[in-house]
Amino acid sequence: MAQGELEFPIEPKIGDGLRRFIYSQLFVIPKSPNHSFAGQTIVVTGANSGLGLESARYFYKLGGAKLILAVRTVSKGEAAKEDIVKTVRNRNDGISAIEVWDVDFSSTESVLAFIQRVKGLSRVDVLLCNAGVNFKQYQLDEGIERSMQINVLNTFLLALSSLPKMRQTKAQFPDSPPHITIIMTFAASLAAN
Ligand SMILES: NC(=O)c1ccc[n+]([C@@H]2O[C@H](COP(=O)([O-])OP(=O)(O)OC[C@H]3O[C@@H](n4cnc5c(N)ncnc54)[C@H](OP(=O)(O)O)[C@@H]3O)[C@@H](O)[C@H]2O)c1
Repeated sequence: MAQGELEFPIEPKIGDGLRRFIYSQLFVIPKSPNHSFAGQTIVVTGANSGLGLESARYFYKLGGAKLILAVRTVSKGEAAKEDIVKTVRNRNDGISAIEVWDVDFSSTESVLAFIQRVKGLSRVDVLLCNAGVNFKQYQLDEGIERSMQINVLNTFLLALSSLPKMRQTKAQFPDSPPHITIIMTFAASLAAN
């Protein structure tokens, strides 16, 4: 390989990306689930703002039995809980308990402690891994570039460590379709194509 030549050259397909972005913004309306989540336990990370908060609000509306707002600042989580309870009036069924649990994805120790709490739940039906960052500067957490640490390593640590609990949930509650969703970026889908 010649000096200065990239080993993995990345060429963003700007035109293709732009076309797909405009199409998705104007013509695609994602389907929202509308079935009941009665009896189910739902964990949403980064649930105090943005997509995480709106997803948590939606799960609450659909009647999950236990909704866990996983946040790095408990006071923000408590505010989100209050907001959800105040704004959702017509719930499908069930009585939901909303709990606020702390977890900081920049700290492996914090994520491992969170995993222990997840393992202690009687069931986990939904794990929505939404917490994430988009840093413009190069910074390290525990020696790893920060967005890699938060968005990838510790997110997948939680996701993979939750699999046994979700398998157990399926075995005990065969009607439940346990699933893990990891929020990613539109740009990644372009890179994958
Ligand atoms: N919105 C977009 O256009 C877009 C595009 C591409 C990807 N995404 C991804 O989609 C997800 C949600 O996006 P959003 O726009 O809703 O973002 P947002 O409003 O900034 O929410 C991100 C959430 O992640 C939490 N978070 C950040 N760092 C954390 C950490 N170290 N530990 C625990 N929680 C942490 C934030 O908590 P704090 O409030 O405490 O900071 C917040 O609750 C993110 O993963 C984002 O990367 C979004």
